[in-house]
Amino acid sequence: MENFDITLFQNIAYIFAAILFITGIKMLGKEATAQKGNVISAVGMFMAIIVTAINIVNPFVVLGGILLGAFIGSVIAVKVKMTSIPEMVALFNGFGGLATFFIAWSEMSNTNDNLFQYLLVILTIYIGGVTFSGSLIAFGKLSERLKIGKGHLLTNLFISIFYISLVSILAMLVLPMIGSLPLNFETIFYVYLALVMLGGVGFVLPIGGGDMPVVISLLNSLSGIAAAFAGLILVNNVLIVAGSLVGASGLILTIIMAKAMNRTIGNILFVGYAASAASSSSEQGEVKPINAEDAFLILENASSVLIVPGYGMAVAQAQHVVRELGELLEENGTDVKYGIHPVAGRMPGHMNVLLAEANVSYDLLAEPDDVNPMMDTVDVAIVIGANDVVNPSATEEPGSPIYGMPILEVANARTVFVLKRSMSSGFAGVQNPLFFKENTRMLFGDAKESISGLVSEFKD
Ligand code: TAP
Repeated sequence: MENFDITLFQNIAYIFAAILFITGIKMLGKEATAQKGNVISAVGMFMAIIVTAINIVNPFVVLGGILLGAFIGSVIAVKVKMTSIPEMVALFNGFGGLATFFIAWSEMSNTNDNLFQYLLVILTIYIGGVTFSGSLIAFGKLSERLKIGKGHLLTNLFISIFYISLVSILAMLVLPMIGSLPLNFETIFYVYLALVMLGGVGFVLPIGGGDMPVVISLLNSLSGIAAAFAGLILVNNVLIVAGSLVGASGLILTIIMAKAMNRTIGNILFVGYAASAASSSSEQGEVKPINAEDAFLILENASSVLIVPGYGMAVAQAQHVVRELGELLEENGTDVKYGIHPVAGRMPGHMNVLLAEANVSYDLLAEPDDVNPMMDTVDVAIVIGANDVVNPSATEEPGSPIYGMPILEVANARTVFVLKRSMSSGFAGVQNPLFFKENTRMLFGDAKESISGLVSEFKD
């Protein structure tokens, strides 16, 4: 046992852990293998933690940490509602950032004459801290607890602090090269920590509307980059690999989401979304309600139907009855397709996951670019708890918070049924002119109940 090289053992185990991470992530790409992929990645992470803990002076502290973390994580994961998963993910990203912030802070005293190490610590504190406080703001926005956005006095104050925090990294990098300082370094360092934390608030606060999905993926990517930097500080290979995987995949997702929203990342981060929602928040005429019996009579005679699900379908958990309605329509000789917007719902692929869970065939799903050109041939578009992703203001109203975002242009279908409970707005907080169009009928009520009503009509 004397010749046992523990570092070699750890590094070999880390390679296996990395293989498990990559295999797991690959399996997440398909609904059928996603659950197994999740377990495989979790096993890889557990292995990495145990192997890291074996040569720690007080492994009991680590064990206590694992048990406490596992307990809190499990309770949250079991209790969380499906519709709140995006908020939970925002919090998890944030705590990843906080962990790296603390790692880097604790290593500050070891940077002494090593400029590279000092640089890593200063950067990791920044990325980790901004990820933490930014993610808390994202959590508030996603859970709709935090309503302030661009234009608010507080937002402007925090934006200024964000810019000051960016300058402060540069200052921190040159400070060690300056001989005598006006304040002692420790005081300056604490001011830096505070600026970083407040800067993260200013980073996310002005962003909203259709840009939130991009910010969530960016924060996810930043949490990975911060972890990879922390791995460099601690010279821990598995942390570098895991952090790089999260950082790179998050960045790819950020670019995909930004493209889907027709925005550049710079535009989202530094210009923010359009200033005021006031112009489009007022009601714009009379809406025409319809009941399930009358809606059925129209659907019975439709030769093509486009189903457009949104966040409300997730809230109502209506995916199974939606599939049933789709099948009944097909049996009736109707051509049925599902129009899936890339940011419908509250997380990437949200609608795809729900419809796959309900066994809707993947071949029936179509993206906006595929369905928009043939929208005028659609007899009925059934909008199920979707709002922002079908809002014509995105194409017609410059100044709207969602202006420029590609939408599913259901207003061009012959008839549109909108299934929602009230006239309240969607995530972006703006009124939807679609509801007041001549060819739109509102089927008010919980989406699951409304669809079940239509299903019963077909079965009677
Ligand atoms: P939203 O615009 O948020 O609209 C959802 C609609 O569903 C609401 O207007 C609501 O109206 C209705 N609803 C809620 N519960 C319902 C129920 N039980 N039955 C029937 N209707 C119900 O959703 P969307 O069109 O899917 O657009 C997504 C929005 O979220 C976009 O602005 C997007 O940028 C943002 N976002 C997306 C993501 C990702 S990655 N997908 C992440 C963060 C933010 P009532 O209250 O009147 O029923």
